[in-house]
Amino acid sequence: MKILITGGAGFIGSHIADAYVSAGHDVVIVDDLTTGREEFVPKGARFIKMDITSPEIDDLFEQEKFQVVNHHAAHMELRVSVDKPLHDAEVNILGSVRLLEAARRTHVHHCVLASSVAVLGNFLTIPADETHPTRPISPYGVSKLAMEHYAEYFRTSHGMRITVFRYTNIYGPRQNPFGESGVVGIFLNKFLNGSVATIHGDGEQLRDYLYVSDVVRANLIATERSLNGTFMLCANSETSVNEVVRLLHEHIHAKDASFPCEVENGPSKVGDPPITRGSFARFSALSGWKPATGIDHGIAETTAWFLNRR
Ligand SMILES: NC(=O)c1ccc[n+]([C@@H]2O[C@H](COP(=O)([O-])OP(=O)(O)OC[C@H]3O[C@@H](n4cnc5c(N)ncnc54)[C@H](O)[C@@H]3O)[C@@H](O)[C@H]2O)c1
Repeated sequence: MKILITGGAGFIGSHIADAYVSAGHDVVIVDDLTTGREEFVPKGARFIKMDITSPEIDDLFEQEKFQVVNHHAAHMELRVSVDKPLHDAEVNILGSVRLLEAARRTHVHHCVLASSVAVLGNFLTIPADETHPTRPISPYGVSKLAMEHYAEYFRTSHGMRITVFRYTNIYGPRQNPFGESGVVGIFLNKFLNGSVATIHGDGEQLRDYLYVSDVVRANLIATERSLNGTFMLCANSETSVNEVVRLLHEHIHAKDASFPCEVENGPSKVGDPPITRGSFARFSALSGWKPATGIDHGIAETTAWFLNRR
């Protein structure tokens, strides 16, 4: 199939691009490289440096006649979304609508959209499933929820088939170490650079971490079956930030004991919930998907990748 991946030079998108290329698909990647890296684009894919909000996107769809669109490009720094909600909305809402509209016009068969558990806001039930209320507490969450509503509009009014995945905390090799939503990548970067990592609060907050290869598998399944619907994509497990730090220490020191791996405790982040955990039961019932990589192995793989590229 001819597949467009937006954000395919980024962390998650580039892993999905690798898998699509390996599966024999004709892959085109659109990315403006704001956080992505051209070196992550697989050899077998065609790379086009383009902003998803630009009108050139419309011409691209007309020329290429994609069968599938996998949309991972986004602005995703929570704090910047608070400081600059307009920019966040331009990329995440208007950019997504431009893609969906171009997909409709050119009869794209299936779309996959990367959403986030940020659409839920504070977790009211644990584990949270797809029936959980959506009351986002950041402009980023609002923008992802708006994208979800547009997806529903295009499904119901135009019969489009769209998979929406609400990701929890995704981690793994190529993770952006400078963002604000990826404690594994951020801490690894600090530890390997000899800087001190700051744990916000006491570090006992629990998060649901999902390894990137499990996310890739879910995207492949959604694409193969042209699934239509909105799904939580998570591990339904809880790991504290302190436990993540302990695992990072263990795996870094197993390779090189000379890294000091220092941490300090800073003030809690406003609105940082004590626990987030999701249920993947809906997606699993439909597809048989289950997370396959535990946090220990996932952190070992991620640590090895960060160490190798130093
Ligand atoms: N990483 C996570 O834990 C997580 C959690 C929930 C949702 N998500 C979603 O998954 C998707 C991928 O996230 P990621 O972690 O790989 O982040 P990432 O920053 O590595 O990837 C995003 C990519 O989009 C590109 N991009 C940004 N703005 C663009 C624009 N205007 N035009 C074209 N390209 C643009 C960036 O250059 C980058 O390559 C995003 O939609 C994000 O909101 C990620």
